[in-house]
Amino acid sequence: MNSDAPTPSARIIDGRASAARIRARVARAVETLKREHDLVPGLTVVIVGDDPASHVYVRQKGEQTREAGMVSDTIRLDADTPEDELLRLIARLNADARVHGILVQLPLPAHMNADAVIAAIDPAKDVDGFHVQNAGRLSVGLPAMVPCTPLGCRILLEETLGDLSGLEAVVVGRSNIVGKPMAQLLLASHCTVTIAHSRSRDLPALCRRADILVAAVGRPEMIRGDWISPGACVIDVGINRVPTRDPELAAQGKTRLVGDVAFDEALSVAGHITPVPGGVGPMTIACLLMNTVTAAARAHGLDPEAILAD
Ligand code: GUN
Repeated sequence: MNSDAPTPSARIIDGRASAARIRARVARAVETLKREHDLVPGLTVVIVGDDPASHVYVRQKGEQTREAGMVSDTIRLDADTPEDELLRLIARLNADARVHGILVQLPLPAHMNADAVIAAIDPAKDVDGFHVQNAGRLSVGLPAMVPCTPLGCRILLEETLGDLSGLEAVVVGRSNIVGKPMAQLLLASHCTVTIAHSRSRDLPALCRRADILVAAVGRPEMIRGDWISPGACVIDVGINRVPTRDPELAAQGKTRLVGDVAFDEALSVAGHITPVPGGVGPMTIACLLMNTVTAAARAHGLDPEAILAD
C-alpha cells in the first residue's frame, strides 16, 4: 500500500435522505391542506419537444407530485408547436384556479423565446422561480418563489453546517437558474459571497478562499482537489454524462455521471461534499413540491411556513 496516498476525510452529504424528509414534510402539509382547507395543490408541467433527458425529469416530477398527494398534470407539445400556442396555454393555466404551480420544462426548442415564455407565467404560480418578478423579489429580500436547485443547496448547507453567517462562499457559475439565485440565498444567509465564472482571473485561487464552494458550471470534473480549502463544504450541482472509465465499456457507449468537481480528489481535502448522483439532484424535485405547496397556500391566503412546519 502506498502510505503517501491521501486518506479520504470528507463526510458525504446524503441528498437522497434529505429529499425524502422534505417529501414527507410536503405530504403531511398536503394532508393538512386537504383536511382543514379542502384544498388539493396542483402542479402542471409543460414539455415541448422530445429531448429524452427532459422527458425523464418530467416523468419523475409527475410521479413525485402524485406521491405527495397533489394533482399532477403533464402537457406534452410537439417540437414544432408555435410559440403563441404555448403562450395561450400558459394564459389558460394562469386563469385556472385548480392549477397552483406551472412549470415549463427547459430547454425549449430553438424557435421559442424562453424569456418571453417565462414572463407569461403568473409570478404567483411560477414554482421554478424564474420570472423576473421572483428574481427581483429574491434580490431585495421580499417573499418570492425561489429556484428549486439553489433552494435545495441551501437546505443541504444549513443541515450540514448550521448557521452560515460570516462564512466565505464562492459560487462558480452565473446562470439565472442556479448561480445568481444561489448567490442571493447565501447573501441572505449572511455569507460573504463571490460569484466566479469562466472569465474570472485565477479561478483556483478564488475557490481556495471558500468555506462553502458551490460548483454550477456544467463542465465535468473541472474543479480539482487542490482548488479546495481543507475542510470546505463542497456542493456539486453538475450532472455530466461522460464515458465510463473502462475503455472497453466506453467503446460500447457506456456512460457514467460525474459532477463539476473531481470527486475522488476532493474527498481527501473537503470537510463535506455532495456526491453525484445522490447529492443535489434529488433536492431539486423535493423543493419543487415544496414550492407548489407554498403557491397553493398563498393562493388561499394561508401562511406557507405554518403549513409546511414539521
Ligand atoms: N431544465 C433543467 N432544470 C430545470 C428546472 O429546474 N426547471 C425547468 N423548468 N427546466 C429545467
